[in-house]
Amino acid sequence: MTIRRLEQIIHSVATSDGAGVSLRRSLGQSPSTRVDPFLMLDEFSTDDPDDYIAGFPPHPHRGFETVTYMLDGHMLHEDHLGNRGDLLPGGAQWMTAGRGIIHSEMPQQESGRMRGFQLWINLPAAEKMKPAHYRDIRPEEIPHAALPGGGEVRVIAGGIVIAGREVAGPVQGLSIEALYIDVRLPAGGDFTQVLPDGHSAFVYAYEASLSIGPAGDSRRLAAQDAGVLSTGESVEIHADDGSASFLLLAARPLREPVVQYGPFVMNSREEIEQAIADYRDNRLV
Ligand code: FE2
Repeated sequence: MTIRRLEQIIHSVATSDGAGVSLRRSLGQSPSTRVDPFLMLDEFSTDDPDDYIAGFPPHPHRGFETVTYMLDGHMLHEDHLGNRGDLLPGGAQWMTAGRGIIHSEMPQQESGRMRGFQLWINLPAAEKMKPAHYRDIRPEEIPHAALPGGGEVRVIAGGIVIAGREVAGPVQGLSIEALYIDVRLPAGGDFTQVLPDGHSAFVYAYEASLSIGPAGDSRRLAAQDAGVLSTGESVEIHADDGSASFLLLAARPLREPVVQYGPFVMNSREEIEQAIADYRDNRLV
């Protein structure tokens, strides 16, 4: 079995988005830091309300999916379809913008910790103009499984096998066959996962550093960095010094042209101009 190597490290950068939410962006800080079909990954993590209180007031999207996964804090999602979703610790939302959605995500707390992730996943050309869809995933819908050597894994999308038992996440049946898991390892702990050879994959270390790759050829991934994996049939991840937490994502690459203008991600400039005109003329959604 070919073990994937840590091929490229994307250091996250501090930035802000929405009405002034402080965050760290790894994937998506430039076109060369995308991992097809993953367009962007932001981590927001702060105890300071000034970093999050302004939230994300109403704004549009077209052509891709946004996935928000919360570790701490409380946000409220509202969109033009009339959906209201309470984002609570351990919960997620999977929003398919498709041809267009207008939504807001606003903090429902004035103090305390806010921590979580927003991931943007591209849609295939054939699905970019499908109707928008919103799914609120409550914390209890995300299965937790203990790892044999200590630690645990939470499965948000796709499925894995732990100690002979299949653990399936709430999000299934995507055409890109996405896997989205959150893994917590004790100091010195190990995690091995089989991944389809042709799928793109990356790891985001959000708590402590990791060593990734086969014995004798592993590389260190520091906290708040994303590590892009080579092709191969499995990945081996080791928690270095302290207990470590990381996201592991994999999916079938689309291999289609990507043209992005802010919150619109299409395949050509003409389609982007159409999206801008549709939004201006209230025809986006
Ligand atoms: Fe958004």
